[in-house]
Amino acid sequence: MLVIASDHGGYDLKCAIIETLRQRRVDYQDLGTDDLESVDYPDFAEKVASRVSKGEAEAGILICGTGIGMSISANKFSGIRAALVHDEFTAQMAREHNNANILVMGGRVLSPELGQRLVTIWLDSEYEGGRHQNRLDKISAIERQQRKE
Ligand code: RB5
Repeated sequence: MLVIASDHGGYDLKCAIIETLRQRRVDYQDLGTDDLESVDYPDFAEKVASRVSKGEAEAGILICGTGIGMSISANKFSGIRAALVHDEFTAQMAREHNNANILVMGGRVLSPELGQRLVTIWLDSEYEGGRHQNRLDKISAIERQQRKE
């Protein structure tokens, strides 16, 4: 199951992405926000990242105006690899090299069509493992170390 959320700055793009998820019959849950009224992006990053971090969802999508606030917030959660992507190449690398479990986009940066394309690429790409796993293991080691300090 995939969880998705946005703030007001990402709301329109989130609606476009949900269309794509529906067309692809992806099992998803929309955790808000539900309109264009101003909200605080960390509240919505928390909803998605905590579910993915606890293993209650396989993956997540977060969208704010730039994608920056959502990625900063989501990456505070244990085991979260939230990747802010801007184009086809970064969407593909986010999966193939970083095995990103949360895709982050900027609603004020991307057109709906490009956002939909990036989600499709991320969903269809596969993690390459190998030398990249060594690097992800190092990220996990940093996380464990930070928890102790
Ligand atoms: C909200 O105006 C805006 O700051 C937010 O959507 C996001 O871009 C933050 O990083």
